[in-house]
Amino acid sequence: MKAKEVRERYLKFFEKRGHVRIEPAPLVLKDDPTTLFTSAGMQPLIPFLLGKRHPNGKRLVDSQPSIRLQDIEEVGDNRHTTFFEMLGNWSLGDYFKNEQLSWFLEFLTTELNLSKERLWVSVFEGDSQVPKDEEAVKIWLDLGIASERIGYYDAKKNWWSIGGTPKEMPIGDIGGPDSEVFYDFGEEKEMHKNSLFAKETCHMNCDCGRFLEIGNCVFIQYKKVGDDKLEELPNKNVDFGGGLERIVAAVNNEHDIFKTDLFSSAIGEIVSSLECEDYGSDEQTDKSLRIIVDHLRASCALISSGILPGNKGQSYILRRLLRRAVLHSRFINRSGKLELPKIDFSIYEIPLRFKSVDEINGIVQEETQKFAKALESGMKKLTDEIAKKGKVSSFFAFDLYQTHGFPIEVTQEALTKQGKPLTKSEIADFQNKIQLHKKESQTAGMAIFKGGLADHSQEVIRLHTATHLLQASLRKVLGDHVLQRGQNITNERSRFDFAHDQKLTEEELLTVEKMINEKIDDGIPVKHKLMKKKDAEKTGAIHLFGEKYGEEVNVYYVGENFISAFSLEFCGGPHVANTKDIGHVRIKKQDKIGAGIIRVYLELI
Ligand code: SER
Repeated sequence: MKAKEVRERYLKFFEKRGHVRIEPAPLVLKDDPTTLFTSAGMQPLIPFLLGKRHPNGKRLVDSQPSIRLQDIEEVGDNRHTTFFEMLGNWSLGDYFKNEQLSWFLEFLTTELNLSKERLWVSVFEGDSQVPKDEEAVKIWLDLGIASERIGYYDAKKNWWSIGGTPKEMPIGDIGGPDSEVFYDFGEEKEMHKNSLFAKETCHMNCDCGRFLEIGNCVFIQYKKVGDDKLEELPNKNVDFGGGLERIVAAVNNEHDIFKTDLFSSAIGEIVSSLECEDYGSDEQTDKSLRIIVDHLRASCALISSGILPGNKGQSYILRRLLRRAVLHSRFINRSGKLELPKIDFSIYEIPLRFKSVDEINGIVQEETQKFAKALESGMKKLTDEIAKKGKVSSFFAFDLYQTHGFPIEVTQEALTKQGKPLTKSEIADFQNKIQLHKKESQTAGMAIFKGGLADHSQEVIRLHTATHLLQASLRKVLGDHVLQRGQNITNERSRFDFAHDQKLTEEELLTVEKMINEKIDDGIPVKHKLMKKKDAEKTGAIHLFGEKYGEEVNVYYVGENFISAFSLEFCGGPHVANTKDIGHVRIKKQDKIGAGIIRVYLELI
């Protein structure tokens, strides 16, 4: 059975049981600056799990594209990915354990025809605050799951919240005990005996590959309210999440998710483009192919969500994923080509929000070609250093990062390949150097430009406000993906870098310029308000992802109030009091300065 059918059957099954199918949330949540990506279906639903009424009622179902970076090191095995699609259903204070466990089992056995004998389940064993989940055990037994296929685990395995175990949960986090369902590929496959875990007894959470977790029924009924203190929520909620990729693998009795239709044709394209060994013929090649296909798929989803490669926050994650994919294609390719294969990303069925397949490929190619060149010279440097010194220091790794853009994991993998990995303490040293470097450049930057301003002369202040109007106008004309990537204002001009993948047309430039000058003619007041960061974020004001803001921030707005404001930004100021104080401006020139970054120069007339 193909992924598309599994997805549709799941959604329909729960619709028939009173659930409303909801639109999945974007991969990058606009209103949640505390997290880089949507990593679970429940994340956008937190206010409703806490008791707020959802407009679509108490039973919801969806399929949520998600990214989990904590699994990045594991990508390369038969089942881990950074990007995945999570099938989810929720009860917001409506049904509870009985319905959830029975329905999920019914879905697996009747809709997907999985044999009940192949299903194992785990439940929470209890701790000092929350009792053992006897209720779930009884339901599973009544449903015909044999007691030897029910396992008891502690909070590390059978408790779910975004923050982790009850001890790790930050105050305000919600969670509860969960019950996971595993598909057993069967002892006859001898996976355990041939695995690294052969000496230990095999059990459902064993990493040998015999068992695959295909769904997690979380009973969200607690909120952390103090150190070691959990409080019952007014609602008893169900939060179910199951990885589509894994469920499809189980349905096809295929223990390698990369052999399902979600990946197989993409892997085929990669193999023929790189002219490497076929998938399945060599362990090391398989590992690299899995990393390449996963990282490309995640990158495609990120780019289509409006993220472009860069040096901060989500943009840096995207850059790291692409660079690691380039490294692995270098490991396995026989074609001599270093650029990544062009893939028709539509095969992933990821809803493309902002970009077409060609645009995505363009961004991937541009970013990876640049790195491919740096990779060659960096690898040569690395090999020479090993030949000379027999090993590589953290200082050297840091130099590679600065001069050739090697993320630490790329250096580490390249070194491992040569049998000389960095030790843990050298890696830690590298991380310290990065932190120090960031601090130093921030301090140096602050001394020269306060918020990108050369000084506080009248011209600089006028151009500063004009730059806010510029950003707001660019977003109105080009779209919300436009976000500041850099700014530098002197008394002669404002230089503004922003995310957009191609130069503006003549007409777009004129429209933007006209819009700014109209707002200047309108004589709109420029106001600001000092606010708590979390309240400021709720206003929808533009701010930079990955940027460190203090507990209190200034929100500058051009308009009478937040709602009607033409421009709304986190900013340290200073600005003119009214847009008419700017005088007219013109856009002097524009450049494309990197993958997806456009630079515009603005000057006073
Ligand atoms: N929140 C749980 C998970 O992400 C189930 O949806 O695994």
